[in-house]
Amino acid sequence: MKLFRNISELVALERVVKHAAIAVENGRIAWCGPEADWTGRADSTEDLGGRAVIPAFIDPHTHAVWAGDRLADFEERACGVGYEAILARGGGIRSTIAKTAAESVQNLVALARPRIGALMRSGAATIEVKSGYGFTVEAELRMLEAIRELARVVKARLVPTLLIHIPPIESREDYIEAVVNQLIPEAAARGLAQAVDVFVEREAWSAAEALRFIECARAHCLEAKLHTEQFHRVGGLELGVLERVLSLDHLEACSPEQVQLLGASQTVATILPGVTLHLGIPAAPGRALIDAGAKVAVGTDLNPGSSPLYSMSTALALAVRLNGLTPEEGLRAGTVNAAAALGLTDCGSIEPGMRADFAVLESADWRDVVYSLGTNPVRDVFIRGERV
Ligand code: NIG
Ligand code: FE
Repeated sequence: MKLFRNISELVALERVVKHAAIAVENGRIAWCGPEADWTGRADSTEDLGGRAVIPAFIDPHTHAVWAGDRLADFEERACGVGYEAILARGGGIRSTIAKTAAESVQNLVALARPRIGALMRSGAATIEVKSGYGFTVEAELRMLEAIRELARVVKARLVPTLLIHIPPIESREDYIEAVVNQLIPEAAARGLAQAVDVFVEREAWSAAEALRFIECARAHCLEAKLHTEQFHRVGGLELGVLERVLSLDHLEACSPEQVQLLGASQTVATILPGVTLHLGIPAAPGRALIDAGAKVAVGTDLNPGSSPLYSMSTALALAVRLNGLTPEEGLRAGTVNAAAALGLTDCGSIEPGMRADFAVLESADWRDVVYSLGTNPVRDVFIRGERV
């Protein structure tokens, strides 16, 4: 048993405990509360210096494995060319697919590793990572193998998702058959993915096509989620609510009626403020979603095209400024609600029995984690009780 003491404020699930301590045994929280109430016996003690402690973040949405870059797109966009226009003429996501599909598993791991490291330094202990820059069954499986290899070499827990991103221009129907008959079954059989994600959008898949992928995912015991209402409303949100998918992500183009529909459902609404900042598109209606009863999560959406954001604390800081969340709602969005977006129940709060994943801030006041910009408010991250 190890006791972490001298915590100015401990943000446990529903309460903030002043002058707190946490006891950890076998990687789990054994006890937490006011330090004065501790009566147990600890084998070792660590003084956290009067700083605030929060649950470590869970990043519920990243595309951290890619090759190449999108700097030319960025420059073009800065001159007024739209993200969708670049995609429609065969660039954007398609250019990243061309680069990524050509790389070996080993190179993909080497490229992604420092990105995972940056997310961990920002306070993340659990990180979802998607495939989706593959385009063929082989290349998608290679991306998932890279994620599995990455999970072996980093301390963070990685949650792998098979993303059915965009259709090949020429062989759309053949690719759908290959996804349903080979890719999803093989990814499931080899334990390479926990969920299937589909990008529902004009330049990507229709709601009817997404339904086929969802049904196939479920037939192979995988969860389902959607990238939806990013630019246009093409039925993804309604499909996701009807199908009770785990999470609906993006939502920048949501209507007030759709906000009510999602708010009345159990599906997590995952918003990605890095995309609003980087692409200059509207902010997802985070405030309205919460007021409508939705469980709102926030992710970085780390990817080279729409959100080159390597920090969970910055994603939350942006959600407070751009999506109208309070600091407390922001913290929930990056912890317990983000866990729900991944179907996880063993992380996201500091309570007995949970994984001992927590972040020690530089500050004595936990609100600094969503306040400071351009500096890392996180001093140390502990995963299963070990400093990483
Ligand atoms: O979450 N919208 C689709 N997919 C990613 C972007 C991928 C890219 O631009 O490379 C997203 O925004
Ligand atoms: Fe995404």
